[in-house]
Formats: sequence, C-alpha cells, structure tokens
Amino acid sequence: TDPEMIRNFCIIAHIDHGKSTLADRMLQLTGVVQPRQMKAQYLDRMDIERERGITIKSQAVRMPWEHAEDTYAFHMIDTPGHVDFSYEVSRSLDACEGALLLVDAAQGIEAQTLANLYLAMEHDLVIIPVLNKIDLPAAMPDKYAAEIAGLIGCEPEEVLRVSGKTGEGVEELLDRIVEEVPAPEGDAEAPARAMIFDSVYDTYRGVVTFVRVVDGSLGHREKIRMMSTGATHELLEIGVSQPEPKPTQGLGIGEVGYLITGVKDVRQSKVGDTVTSQARPADELIRGYQEPRPMVFSGLFPIDGSEFPVLREALEKLQLNDAALNFEPETSTALGFGFRVGFLGLLHLEITRERLEQEYNLELISTAPNVVYEVTDESGETHQVTNPSEFPEGKIADIREPIVDATVIVPAEFIGPVMELCQSRRGAMQGMDYLSEERVEIRYSMPLAEIVFDFFDNLKSRTKGYASLNWQGTGEQSADLVKVDILLQGDKVDAFSAITHRDQAYDYGVKMASKLKDLIPRQQFEVPVQAAIGSRIIARENIRAIRKDVLSKCYGGDISRKRKLLEKQKEGKKRMKMVGTVEVPQEAFITALSSE
Ligand code: GTP
Repeated sequence: TDPEMIRNFCIIAHIDHGKSTLADRMLQLTGVVQPRQMKAQYLDRMDIERERGITIKSQAVRMPWEHAEDTYAFHMIDTPGHVDFSYEVSRSLDACEGALLLVDAAQGIEAQTLANLYLAMEHDLVIIPVLNKIDLPAAMPDKYAAEIAGLIGCEPEEVLRVSGKTGEGVEELLDRIVEEVPAPEGDAEAPARAMIFDSVYDTYRGVVTFVRVVDGSLGHREKIRMMSTGATHELLEIGVSQPEPKPTQGLGIGEVGYLITGVKDVRQSKVGDTVTSQARPADELIRGYQEPRPMVFSGLFPIDGSEFPVLREALEKLQLNDAALNFEPETSTALGFGFRVGFLGLLHLEITRERLEQEYNLELISTAPNVVYEVTDESGETHQVTNPSEFPEGKIADIREPIVDATVIVPAEFIGPVMELCQSRRGAMQGMDYLSEERVEIRYSMPLAEIVFDFFDNLKSRTKGYASLNWQGTGEQSADLVKVDILLQGDKVDAFSAITHRDQAYDYGVKMASKLKDLIPRQQFEVPVQAAIGSRIIARENIRAIRKDVLSKCYGGDISRKRKLLEKQKEGKKRMKMVGTVEVPQEAFITALSSE
C-alpha cells in the first residue's frame, strides 16, 4: 500500500468513556464487519476467544475508508489503559501518527486520559478531540468542549461531537482522520525496520507479534532478526487484522500487522524491540529498547505447601504471555517455599494473583508488597533490595527509594481532603490547575511506596469516588528508611519484616504486635511479641501463658465429648506453623498480612 494512503491512529479514553462502542461503529461503517456478524464490543469479545485459543486479539485493526474518491487504509491501534503498562502505551503511541482523545460528554477528562494525552503529545501525535455519548440526557458538551479546548489549545468548535451508540458524527470523525492525521513516512530503500508494540501468546499459533513497519519491508517466509538479542526466526506468516487475521505477502512502510514465527514465549519477541531482515539487517534500533522493569515485589506462597510445584508451573505459563512478570524461589521460615515475584505495579500484581487463584485453583498467601530500594552500606557497596530480608545488617550510608509524580483530578470541593492525604503520605505539592471552574488537577511528588498500598482506596473514599489518579516514575530520592522486624519469643518472623520510613516504623511495629497478640493463641508459656529496628525494641506485647488443658472444661461424665475435643485439637495442630518454639496458626499469618 502506498504510504500516502495510510492513516495510523489510536484512541485515548478513560475506562467506560466508550472506546469499544465507538470502535464497533467504525468497524460497521467501514464495512469490515457485516451487520449480521455485529455484536456489541466486537473486539473485546475476540479477546475472550483468543484466551481460549481460537483467534488472535486484534491489537491493530485494518479498515478501508473512502474519502474524496480515494480509498484509505486505516490502522486502529489498541493501547492498554492503565499506568502499570505505560511502557506498552508509549510503544503503541509510537506506532501512530494521530490519536483520538475520546471524552465522555457527561464526565469530562479524567487523570488517566490526561496522562495518556501528555504521552501522545510527547510523541508528537496529532490529537483529534472527540466528545462521546452526546445522546445522553446528562451530556454537557459545551462545558466539556471548553475544558478540552483549554487543555489542548484548540477552539471549542473543533471538538467533534459523536455518539458511539447511535453512530451520530462517526462518519465525520473518519473523514477528519484522513484530513488531519499525517501519512506515515519512511525510507523504502533502507534495510527493513519494524517496531514491536505488542506480543501475545496464542495456544495454537504460538506468539503473535504486532509490528509497525518504519523502513523497508518484510515479506512472507523471510528470515527476520530481533535487534536487541540477535535471535533469528523464519516468518511463517505475516498479515493484517481485519479484524480476523488475514495473511498477506508482506508489509511495507507505515503498515501495521502481525508476524508469526512459531516461537512459544513472548520474551523472545519483546515489546519495544526492532525487527529487521536477516539478509540485510539495519544497524540501529528504532528506539532504544527498554527491558520491562518490575516496580513492586511481593512474596507468593501456597497455603498448602505441597502445591509449590503447581505454583511454579502456573507462573511459568503466565510468563509465556507476560514478559514483565519475573520471579525467583524464596524460602520463608514462617510461610515455607514460595516465590518472590516482581510486578509493574499493584494492578499487575492483583491481575496475576487473581489468575493464579482462578485459573490454577491455587490458594495463596502474599506478603506485603514493597518497592525496590537502593541501599548503600558503610563500605560504599550498593544493594538492590527487593525483599526486606535482603536489607543489609549494620550501618547504612544511604537509602534511595523510587519517587513518582502523581496527578489527581477532582471536583474543587475536595481539594482539602486530597491535600491532607497526600501530605500524610510524604507528598510534596508541585502545583494545581483549574481545568474548569469546578474541577482541578493537583500534582504531587511522592514516594512510590506511599502509593502502592491503599492510597487509591483512601483517595476514593475521601472524594466520594470522584477522584481519578495517575502517576509516573521520576527517579530515586534518599530517605530515612529503616527495616522493622517482628519477633516472637525473640525469633524473627521474616514474613512480617517491612521497610518503612523512620517516622512510621513505630506505628507499624505497634500495629503488628497488637494484631499478632490477638491472632496467636495462648501457649504453655508466656510469649513476647516485639517489634525491633536492628537490636532496638520499639514495641512489645505479651501473649500470656495458659495451661492448655482442654479437658478441664468437661467435668467427668461425657467421654465422647472429650474425645471430640481432643480430635479437634489435633486437627488444629496440623495447620500450625512453628516459629522457634511458638505455635502459630496459619490463619494468623493470612489475617495479619491482609491489609484491613
Ligand atoms: P472499557 O472497555 O471498560 O475501557 O470501556 P470502553 O471505554 O470501551 O467503553 P464501552 O464502549 O464499553 O462503553 C461503556 C458504557 O457506555 C457501555 O455501557 C456503553 O453502552 C455506553 N456507551 C458507549 N458509547 C455510548 C454512547 O455514545 N451513548 C450512550 N448513551 N452510551 C454509550
């Protein structure tokens, strides 16, 4: 296809602002999906089918569009919506020349949309502003058109008004894409270079790699090379999604499509990498490739220790489709054998945990998530600490923690509560802008560790659900952090160790000690529960001793009742773990580790 006739774009939208519904109308209007095959959220449904291994998810749909007597080829590229996946978002944006900024006409801009809009602007994409759902009685298109115009610096009249539901305005939108989004440019004579913006695992076909060709072309049966690793593969299939996969003879400049090489692991075909031809390789990657970097770590342990091999197998399977997931075995005195798992963020952690529990039927205990610290000890040596147990003993010269820029969008009446919350989480205010008279954007610089716990839930409850949040890593900063250990009868319980700010260490210690005092049953002897920084005790509770004589409650008489009690006690013992000489019910670990 002549690059002049190609338009590549993505849709930037907040959850529920109507991206899938608008995509449905586009598929219909361009005729790639026939009316009788049409079902709501067409592309999302394909996603479910893909998971069952039937077809390929359409990360990039090709659609023809007639405009001024010419036929154009559109590639609509899907972008992941969540901050955890910002690297993938930025690679998807790289594959486009334009972006539709889709905003619900009854809701206005949200923090997520704003973050992706800024990213799109950084990538120099042409932005087409669109208000959606104008058919809704609650729609306030004039108000939000002004908000958007103020934000991106256009006239309110330039903001398109559409309804994905009724189809109103969608044809005009497609024409605007032809007129405003620039055609792709590239060097046809140069060695082939294509950028990978997504790579998914399909049970039947192996890894399906989505690329955007920048220079030259790739052909069927050609030998290709992954530039970051030098690995070579043969192209078994090359094609475009319409949205069903359709094999072609090749892909040229500006074209977006898929490659299949028979590899089985997405790590062999990494998002951000450049594909070139083996026969005539390019010298330089399109952009420097960046390995996905886990930001949050947590220990995952099977409740039933015998399920450790099942957990390993499950993690290995998930990794086939998730290059950002990494893990290594971990042994905890309290929780037994498990894995230390690195995630891109909390959502990534939750999704992974849910899949392990649902798809693999595992019951898991996860330890409190922590960020990655850089700790320099007295000798000047620096350690990457992803687990409190790796925290160096002895004197520490410096500790650095990851810092983010957080953006909150909220109705003006909630400015006070939001600031209070951010301040209590060691935030430093960076600025505040009114998007309109009623809505403000508040910016804070904050330690990532303060956001990964229950920040978002807290924010939601303080703002009656109106706040939206986004953040972006900006680097590391020194902080006065310490490791707090929890001791039972003088023995450290590794699963409860945490790295906290010095000012919060006492609170953490007191809270854990009193939780455990309530959760651990009395023993034959007194058990001190202590919290300590190094050898210094900062909190202490006592679990008082009892004589564990369950039979003394049954005065003589009923022998079968006595037997039952003894049986019950034996059952309970099985679920006990020993910490030194102290018996701790497994429930106590689970409850103490779950955030309340
Ligand atoms: P996610 O996939 O969850 O990110 O949502 P989305 O942005 O793809 O939104 P989706 O298309 O699923 O629409 C969200 C809800 O808004 C659905 O209940 C749609 O029926 C509704 N909706 C979408 N577009 C319109 C519209 O133009 N008018 C009206 N009235 N409702 C719409």
